[in-house]
Amino acid sequence: MCGIVGYVGDKEAAPVLIKGLKRLEYRGYDSAGIAVLGRAGLEIRKSKGALKKLEERIAGELGEGALDGSMGIGHTRWATHGEPSDINSHPHTDVSGKIAVVHNGIIENHAKLKSRLIEHGADFRSETDTEVIAHLINFYYEGDILQAVIRAMKRLEGSYALGIICGNNPDRIIAVRKESPLVVGTGKGENLIASDVPALLEYTRDVYYLDDREIAVLYRDRIEFYNEEGERRLKESHHIKWDAAAAEKSGYEHFMIKEIHEQPKALRDTLRARIKTGDTNINLEEIGFDASWAKMERVIIAACGTAWHAGVIGKYAFEKFARVHTEAEIASEYRYRNPIFNPKDIFLIISQSGETADTLAAMRLAKKGGARIIAITNVVGSTLAREADLVMYTLAGPEIAVASTKAFTTQLMCIYLISLQLGRLRETIGDTELTDHIEALKRLPEQAERILSEKENIQRFASLQFNKSKVFYMGRLFDYAASLESALKLKEISYTHSEAFAAGELKHGPIALVDDTTLVTALCTQPALFDKMGSNIKEVKARFAATAVITYEDVDYFDKTADQVFRIPRTLDSLSPILTVIPCQLYAYYCSVLRGLDPDKPRNLAKSVTVE
Ligand code: AGP
Repeated sequence: MCGIVGYVGDKEAAPVLIKGLKRLEYRGYDSAGIAVLGRAGLEIRKSKGALKKLEERIAGELGEGALDGSMGIGHTRWATHGEPSDINSHPHTDVSGKIAVVHNGIIENHAKLKSRLIEHGADFRSETDTEVIAHLINFYYEGDILQAVIRAMKRLEGSYALGIICGNNPDRIIAVRKESPLVVGTGKGENLIASDVPALLEYTRDVYYLDDREIAVLYRDRIEFYNEEGERRLKESHHIKWDAAAAEKSGYEHFMIKEIHEQPKALRDTLRARIKTGDTNINLEEIGFDASWAKMERVIIAACGTAWHAGVIGKYAFEKFARVHTEAEIASEYRYRNPIFNPKDIFLIISQSGETADTLAAMRLAKKGGARIIAITNVVGSTLAREADLVMYTLAGPEIAVASTKAFTTQLMCIYLISLQLGRLRETIGDTELTDHIEALKRLPEQAERILSEKENIQRFASLQFNKSKVFYMGRLFDYAASLESALKLKEISYTHSEAFAAGELKHGPIALVDDTTLVTALCTQPALFDKMGSNIKEVKARFAATAVITYEDVDYFDKTADQVFRIPRTLDSLSPILTVIPCQLYAYYCSVLRGLDPDKPRNLAKSVTVE
C-alpha cells in the first residue's frame, strides 16, 4: 500500500528510483511519480497507471539534461484521498515548488490544516491529504528543512512515512515515520530510503529501521538520526541475511506460484529453528517463551485476513493442546469493541508484514490493558516485532505476491509450536501425544512437496471449473478454518464469488445459494466427522452442484459421493490445514491465470494494509 523510495549518492537518481519502485510494485498502486533534485532544480514527473507509463514518459528525457540529479524521491500511490490521476500522484510540492514530499499513510486532520493553510496563501492543486504536508513544511520553513519538518510533525495527526527533499537544502533527504513502514539503507557513498527492504538490496544489505516519530537525515556520505524534539540519536544498523534472489521470480511466471512452491523449505526452516534435527524438544526458551507463560489464563489472538484465518486454527490448537480458553479476533473489530483485559491474558498477534494498521492498533490496546504480547511475523524489524514482548519469526523469506501463501503455512507452524509447548508447560498434553505431534510436524515439509509434485491434477481440474460463478468451501473444525483461507485465496485473485461455510451451517442458510452453477469443495480430514461431511456433500449434490473433496490418501470414503477426490498425505487431524490449503492455493492460482488475470497484482488490493 503506497511505496516510497529515496536516493542520495553518486548515481543518476531517476533510474535508481524507478528500479526501486518496481521492487515495490507488489504492494499495490494506481499511479507513480518521482522528484529529482539536480542542476535544473527540482523536477517532478508523475503518471496515473502502471509504472511502465512513467518509465516511458521519462525514458526520452534521460541523458538529455533533464532529471539528471543524483538525489531524489519516488512513490507508487494507492489512492485513499482523491481518485487515481496524474495530479493526485506523489510527489506533491508546496506553493514555491521547492519542497517535494512523498507520503504513505493518512493525515486525519488534513481538512482542518488545509483551510488554515489556504488562509495563509497556500494554493492546493490536488485532492490528496498529502499535499497539506508540503504546504505545512513550507509554512514552517526558515532555511533549515529538518527544523521545518519537526515543527510540521507536531501538527500532523494520523499515520505517515515521508520522504522529503528541498531545493534550498540540496544535499539531503529527510525521512520520518509514524505508524507506517520506512527503512533506511546505508551503502558506500550512497544512502537510500524505501518502504520495504527488497527495494534496497541492489545497493546495500545494511539497514536501519526507523522508530515511530524518528527522523533520518540522509546525506551522500552519512546518516543522522533525530527524535521529534530534534535531539541526535544513535542507532544500530541491521544486516539483511536473505538473498536478493529471494525477492526475484527465479524462472517462475508469478511470485505467487513461486511462493507456493517455497512452502516446503519455509516450513522446514521455521521448524528447524525451534526443533533441532534428531531432537524431540521444542526450544522456545531462546525467544523468551519460558515457564512463566504457563500461568496465563486466556489466549486472545488478533489479526486480519489470512493471518486471522491462521488465528482461527490457533484457537482450536490452543484449546486442544494447552486446554486454555482462546479467542480469535478480527483486529479491525477488536480495536473498537471496548474489550475486557486481564493481566493473565496472552495476546497473540499474527501479521506477515508486521505493519497492518488494524493489527498494530489491537496490539497497542492490549498492551495498554496489561496483556503480554507475543507476535508472529515474517518481517524482522517491523513495528509489530519491535513493540511485542516476544517475537517468533516465520522464516518464510520475503513474500511478494499480494495473496499470502507461505506466510500462512509458516504462521500455522509457529502456532502449533507455541500451543504444543504451552500444553507441555501446563501439563495438558501427554508425552506420547506431544512426541507424535512433533514427529508429524517434521513430516509436513516433505508431505507438502508431495502435494506440489501432483499439482497437474489441480491444474486439470481448474481448467474444467475456472468459469464457475460460485465456489463454496466447507468443512468442520480445522477443515472449516482451512476453508476460510481457501475461499479468500480464490476470491482475491480470480474474482470468483467464493465463500466458506462451517458444514454444519449449510442447512441454516447457505444451501439456498447452491445450484448447478456452483462448485462445492469439501475439506474432509477429521475422520470422526466423515459421516456428517458425507451427508453435506450429498445435500449439495442433490441441488446439482459440482463437488470436490480433499481428504487423506488412504481414505476412500468419499469416492462414490464426490465428483472429484484430491488426496493429500496422512497427518494428524489438527495439523491438516497446512496440507489441505496447498491444493486450494494452487486451484486459486490456476483459476486466476486461466481467467487471464495477474495473480500477483489483484485489483483493489495492497500487500500491506498500513491504513485503516
Ligand atoms: C492475504 O492473501 C491477504 N492479502 C490479506 O488478507 C492479508 O493476509 C492481511 O491484509 C493481513 O496482512 P498481514 O499478515 O501483513 O498483517
